[in-house]
Amino acid sequence: MKHIPASFLPPIALDDRTKTPRYRQLYDWFRRAILDGQMRPGQRVPSTRNLAAELNISRIPVLNAYEQLLAEGYFETFVGAGTCVARSIPDDTLSPPAVIARKGLREIVEKRGPRRISHRGAALTHVPPQSWLDTLGAFRVSLPALDHFPIGIWSKLVARHSRRPPRGIMAYGDAMGYLPFREAIAEYLGAVRGVRCEPSQILVTTGSQQALQISAQVLLDPKDRVCIEDPGYPGARLAFLTAGAQLIPVRVDHDGMNVAEIIGRGRDVRAVYVTPSHQYPMGMTMSASRRMLLLNWAARSGAWIIEDDYDSEYRFGSRPIASLQGLDTDGRVIYVGTFSKVMFPALRLGYVVVPKDLVPAFAAARDAADIFSSTLYQAVLTDFIREGHFARHIRRMRMLYMERRRALVNAIQMQMGDTTDVIGAEAGMHLVLLLPRGTHDVAVSRRAAEKGISVMPLSTCYLKPPTRGGLVLGYGGLDARQIHDGIRKLKMSVQSARADP
Ligand SMILES: Cc1ncc(COP(=O)(O)O)c(C=O)c1O
Repeated sequence: MKHIPASFLPPIALDDRTKTPRYRQLYDWFRRAILDGQMRPGQRVPSTRNLAAELNISRIPVLNAYEQLLAEGYFETFVGAGTCVARSIPDDTLSPPAVIARKGLREIVEKRGPRRISHRGAALTHVPPQSWLDTLGAFRVSLPALDHFPIGIWSKLVARHSRRPPRGIMAYGDAMGYLPFREAIAEYLGAVRGVRCEPSQILVTTGSQQALQISAQVLLDPKDRVCIEDPGYPGARLAFLTAGAQLIPVRVDHDGMNVAEIIGRGRDVRAVYVTPSHQYPMGMTMSASRRMLLLNWAARSGAWIIEDDYDSEYRFGSRPIASLQGLDTDGRVIYVGTFSKVMFPALRLGYVVVPKDLVPAFAAARDAADIFSSTLYQAVLTDFIREGHFARHIRRMRMLYMERRRALVNAIQMQMGDTTDVIGAEAGMHLVLLLPRGTHDVAVSRRAAEKGISVMPLSTCYLKPPTRGGLVLGYGGLDARQIHDGIRKLKMSVQSARADP
């Protein structure tokens, strides 16, 4: 018999005022908990000694109750594993008892009320789930080279902070984040991204997804209009939908988001979501003139700009472009960043740089959401940055991703070059493969998933259906052999989807 771990027990309340003896109250309680499904078949129950101590009563009533439950088959015992709820209680005994209502009350008990959810909740369910993409197969978007992460250094830093943690690491922390971490982020952003801010303006978040959500909550009222890039990042769409916003798709071209189209909409736009350093997913960089136009328009019309700078550490060839936030003189830009791509996604650490006057509102929104991020990982990452490991890791990954990108582009050209086009391969960890005209990208993505490949259909990044289907291919987590093999399988998936859409 394998070891069965002890599990949680719902609270037991004994009533000293009734005539029912304690052993009977305990017996009834366990029986009811088992029949109502609060205790599962096979679940371990506490030892008689522990339960008696916990309830502050003598062991005798507990022993008597257990004996009867054993005799009636509700409990069973195993040598070395203690006492458990019997595994063979028939399912029909386990279903909750029917409510027997008195006459007159019957209608109230039997009639089910409506199961109404908010308009925002309903809008979220219109975004189709793509559960077939939820594998770690080749081309998974946003997956860095996890096997190249310096896990030895990281685990030493985790051990350093967790062996004898100061109270500050274990107690409640600041909603804005761990101060030394915010200082390190402010320094990094100033030096590398041209972001102008003080540590007091940095709010640490659970990844940039939460940063987008908090921004939406603080800046938008239901029905407010938000311009988003089309195609754009589906996660941002979700964040704005949860705030009840109305999404306005804006086209992108080789200079990035079409700012003239935003200006043409007049003053009714409350916010703009944009990825100027590396448009998601198409990969272009927003031109300098468009940046200035966007900032001027925002200052005049009183709109907010949410700048998502999710992977600009990885530019190949040209130098990184300074952020919009660094050019802003009117406190209009909310700058969002993440450690998911440069470190690893499960770390769930990101940040927002907030205009000074909005800091109290953002801090309160974070407090209301989930109070703060794990201080331990903030402290560990602070040391990782301060001791130079972060900069070294980024340099190494930039070289690695450059090689991987070359291998992917070559493999596509060799195996599928005559019918497809590659765009957006100058930066980041993904590129877009435009499929032969008339190919249904969701069908290809589903076929590829059957072969263990995770390719995101480009059409799911659009609000308005695109004229040509495509796939977003992540290459950060793949070596040359996996890339070659993945493209071979992808080619077969395209052929089979075209033959039988
Ligand atoms: C454009 C963009 N923004 C934000 C994110 C979210 O990242 P995080 O893991 O920090 O929530 C991603 C993740 O892929 C992304 O591609």
